[in-house]
Amino acid sequence: MRDHVITLIQSRRARIGVIGLGYAGLPLALRFAEEGFSVSGFDIDRVKVTAINAGRSPVHGIADSRVAASGMVAYATMEAAAACDALIICVPTPIGPHKEPDLTAVRETVAALAPYLRAGQALALESTTYPGTTTDYLLPALSAAGLTPGQDAFLLYSPEREDPGNPDGTVGRMPKLIAGETEACLAVGMALYGPVAGGLVPVSSLAAAELTKLYENVFRAVNIGLVNELKRLCHALDLDVHEIIDAAATKPFGFMPFRPGPGLGGHCIPVDPYYLAWKAKEVGARTDFIELAGRVNDAMPDYVIARLRDALDQRGRTLTGARILLLGLAYKPEVPDTRESPAVEIFRLLSERGAELSYHDPFVPSFPATRRLHGNAPDLESQALTPDILAAQDAVLVVTPHKAVDYAMVVRHARLVIDTRGVFRRPIPATLQGDTKGDFGSGPAWAYEHVIQA
Ligand SMILES: NC(=O)c1ccc[n+]([C@@H]2O[C@H](COP(=O)([O-])OP(=O)(O)OC[C@H]3O[C@@H](n4cnc5c(N)ncnc54)[C@H](O)[C@@H]3O)[C@@H](O)[C@H]2O)c1
Repeated sequence: MRDHVITLIQSRRARIGVIGLGYAGLPLALRFAEEGFSVSGFDIDRVKVTAINAGRSPVHGIADSRVAASGMVAYATMEAAAACDALIICVPTPIGPHKEPDLTAVRETVAALAPYLRAGQALALESTTYPGTTTDYLLPALSAAGLTPGQDAFLLYSPEREDPGNPDGTVGRMPKLIAGETEACLAVGMALYGPVAGGLVPVSSLAAAELTKLYENVFRAVNIGLVNELKRLCHALDLDVHEIIDAAATKPFGFMPFRPGPGLGGHCIPVDPYYLAWKAKEVGARTDFIELAGRVNDAMPDYVIARLRDALDQRGRTLTGARILLLGLAYKPEVPDTRESPAVEIFRLLSERGAELSYHDPFVPSFPATRRLHGNAPDLESQALTPDILAAQDAVLVVTPHKAVDYAMVVRHARLVIDTRGVFRRPIPATLQGDTKGDFGSGPAWAYEHVIQA
């Protein structure tokens, strides 16, 4: 069976099914199509299914032309999964209200696929999750269908490493981890993913691949926590944290620069460490670094607001009734994704304190419903950025440094700028290099009396 499936894949006669057509699943589905495979996509979101079948991309950063050229067919129900030789699950893995793993989408996907599992299929999980998930959730479905991994079906875990907004951060350009339940599973997995990935990194077990993915993201969360702590210390010492980071980054070994910010955002870094912390508790192990980084990073929105409050106070103003414009709502530059965005948390905290809020984000035309606001969406649209509007604010709060914003105009017309990202400094951070819109002045932030680092 193994050789038969590998031959099917190598001859491109294998039909690929991708379940969950979001930031992770859609680019993967398109890569398979671009390598000559016939691809079926599955998603419970009928709007996405309709868009894809009409040749339109429902995911920011993916061109309609790629979807139209792919020939992929999308479905809102699973019947067509029976015809697929590989089924790859890319559904969300968020956290619940108590920061516990929420595997509802994985569980529901496996249940929906169960009637269509058959001999000769490869079943892969891509969603980020704690070690043991693939074995706990996918293996029982194969067993219930009378299938044995490595003999008549193939069980895989290969985590997504997509970096939305980064043209080099997509599946075809990055090495991909791959693990199988057995050696035969791994051999099928290597054949399956080889054509679409920018290299393969086989690891010894499903759990090892699951843990590696989490470790990659915990590494970032912990280092961001460290640099956020350094930022607060720098403010107390009246030093420029970005200067310290830039200087340290000249060390040719053993150092990797991370940038401080207003707190964590997105579907991965604020979420994934808690998957590992949860699993660690189950096996009686400690994850002190994860907990500590979580505390530091979660406190950043409050810290930003404290800096804002102090700056307003010095100008005889209070947060209550202050007109504040948030610059950037997305969790990172150049994307429209607001999941877990610290800007939304800052918005929530400021509105609780009675501030009059507006926002500008070229990627987010209207304020979305988010988990941080309990699924509610404030009735706000992105405000045009004009000299008059900037001058009418008590403060402009830079949360997400999108490149398209004219920061020179901001600093010229705003009465008070609270900069959480180091936009107003020299040298300008890498995210903005080559895209600056004017003169940012000749000194660090505090050369402008009205720009406060936060
Ligand atoms: N977005 C990223 O940059 C990124 C990077 C690395 C890993 N990941 C991981 O990839 C996984 C997916 O994340 P994403 O960002 O693509 O999420 P997403 O929300 O963009 O896309 C997930 C899709 O799955 C669909 N879906 C949900 N439940 C479903 C079900 N039961 N059946 C079928 N479809 C269902 C949703 O409608 C949605 O279209 C997560 O585990 C995430 O941690 C994401």
